[in-house]
Amino acid sequence: MSDASTGNGKVVVNRSMSLDGFIAGPGHAMDWIFDFVAPDEFPDIAAATGAMLVGRRTWEVGDRMEAEESGGADYPFSGPTFVLTHRPLERPDPAVRILSGDIGEAVATAVDAAGGKNLEILGADVAGQCLRRGLVDEILVYVLPVLLGDGIRFSAPGLTRTDLEPISSTRSGAVTILRFRVRK
Ligand SMILES: NC(=O)c1ccc[n+]([C@@H]2O[C@H](COP(=O)([O-])OP(=O)(O)OC[C@H]3O[C@@H](n4cnc5c(N)ncnc54)[C@H](OP(=O)(O)O)[C@@H]3O)[C@@H](O)[C@H]2O)c1
Repeated sequence: MSDASTGNGKVVVNRSMSLDGFIAGPGHAMDWIFDFVAPDEFPDIAAATGAMLVGRRTWEVGDRMEAEESGGADYPFSGPTFVLTHRPLERPDPAVRILSGDIGEAVATAVDAAGGKNLEILGADVAGQCLRRGLVDEILVYVLPVLLGDGIRFSAPGLTRTDLEPISSTRSGAVTILRFRVRK
């Protein structure tokens, strides 16, 4: 079970999102996010994170941003990071563990590594897999005041109705922060 039955940590899908539901623009553009929020703006969220499970495309976009603007994509987290992929990374990173195959096993491995803190799930495809399998405890969305019109949606096609329970809704500058519990 993902529901942090192994400790106090939760499995959290944590996203910046345009008001029209995109988490990246066309061509996986991410620069628009930093017009509204700095990568290190919510240090308490990073401090509550014990591990990350990252889809390959998310990893590659972060890697590209890092190469283009060193430090540009920095998030104040240096704990265990797992990348889900079927093939070796183009730029292997010894600090990263590669996982492949069953999403339930991948989440269990990453939850273990989180040591009782939260596991963050990064990537629309990976988040969709986790939501379909009932592995997500919370969704934390930073709604940014922009309409993108096109891009990568919050979750990939294939997700069916998922009921959420609102936990909190706050504002920090231009950002509206919504937190939901996933009903199981
Ligand atoms: N706004 C935000 O806060 C935010 C947060 C996170 C991500 N993003 C953005 O979201 C976009 C990426 O999302 P995405 O949905 O396109 O891709 P993704 O979820 O990051 O990655 C999907 C890829 O991961 C690999 N994968 C997934 N499940 C797997 C499994 N069970 N076993 C092995 N490999 C598996 C596959 O790659 P291979 O088969 O090619 O190996 C798959 O194509 C990027 O633009 C990123 O910047 C935005």
